[in-house]
Amino acid sequence: MTDKKEVILSGIRPTGRLHYGNYFGAIRHFLRLQETDACCYYFIADYHALTTITERQEIYRATLDMLRTYVACGLDPYKSVIYRQSDLPCTAELSLLLGMLTNIGHLERGTTYKDKFTRLQEDPKSEGNPLSYGLLGYPVLMAADILIVRADLVPVGDDQRQHLEMACDIAAKFNHRFGEVLHIPRPLGRDALRLPGLDGSEKMGKSENNTLDLLDPPKTVLDKIKAVPTTTEPAPLDTDSNDPDIVIGKMPSGVGVLYRLLSLLAPEEVYLDYLDQYRKGGKFYGSLKKAVAEYASQFNAPIIESYNDPAHNDDFIKEFLRENAKRVTPVALETVERCREAMGIGHSLYRA
Ligand code: TYM
Repeated sequence: MTDKKEVILSGIRPTGRLHYGNYFGAIRHFLRLQETDACCYYFIADYHALTTITERQEIYRATLDMLRTYVACGLDPYKSVIYRQSDLPCTAELSLLLGMLTNIGHLERGTTYKDKFTRLQEDPKSEGNPLSYGLLGYPVLMAADILIVRADLVPVGDDQRQHLEMACDIAAKFNHRFGEVLHIPRPLGRDALRLPGLDGSEKMGKSENNTLDLLDPPKTVLDKIKAVPTTTEPAPLDTDSNDPDIVIGKMPSGVGVLYRLLSLLAPEEVYLDYLDQYRKGGKFYGSLKKAVAEYASQFNAPIIESYNDPAHNDDFIKEFLRENAKRVTPVALETVERCREAMGIGHSLYRA
């Protein structure tokens, strides 16, 4: 037995407003873990946002807004260490060190890079910015984020599974070559969620333009839910299970999204009641959509209220950012110094 506290780390890019994929894939776990005695580090990945956003002001503004949404969701900057990635610049140094042992072929197989590469091959004008060294190295920077605080657990949605595996691989390679310096986090559990998009596609995502957002007011929620494609009649589920992970995959995709949302937002009996209706067939999609929209609006209401609380202004955010950067920096610098030593370049004199 050890009395070492579990270290939790996760981050979100400041790309517009938080959506339900972010919340149910990641933030709800942040909230749960914040109430344990674990040491939680949650950051806004503004360096990572540079791979897609080009306006300086836009990233800075989006970062502050995202932090405000973190707080509105219930993340407490006095219980968790909430910081901005670029306030920990030694992450960039660790990323550089880790980059020295990361195979390019490995990075080229990264899904984000591969997808953009394919889109550009098909249509060179399809993307706003080019294929960059930064995008190729995205998983190395992400590994640095994780390894720098010596995280045990990284709560992320299923879409980040490959990135987390790459971080573990990079750490294992480092340790194999330079000694047991880096702490390897646990792999992502099988139950990690991937929330489908409102258009019925595999993943809800900002760039896919298919999101339900935490700050959407009731009218927007209703319009978005009404537009979910439900033209297909119920198909036989051929299972007795009520488990959303099992039944939703057997439904037409748009319908599956509605049931997934219902399973996340509504009391179990409401979800089971609608599942029963599905099994019986008939015309009930209008009522299902209305129910999902109502539960979603109820869910959003306190978040919107807290987001608009004047106490959560920019000054409040900048104050806790300053304090929390001070809390995470010593832990991070220690890891970087250990890596420098292990690789043979010795301690940094300017930090001494
Ligand atoms: P990002 O900003 O794309 O997403 C933030 C978090 O939301 C989760 N998520 C989803 N979960 C389930 N279903 C969805 N449709 C869905 N969409 C998003 C993501 O899995 C993630 O947990 N590379 C990361 C940011 C990052 C990071 C890190 C995360 C940078 N460094 C270190 C953890 C540790 C990203 O782009 O997440």
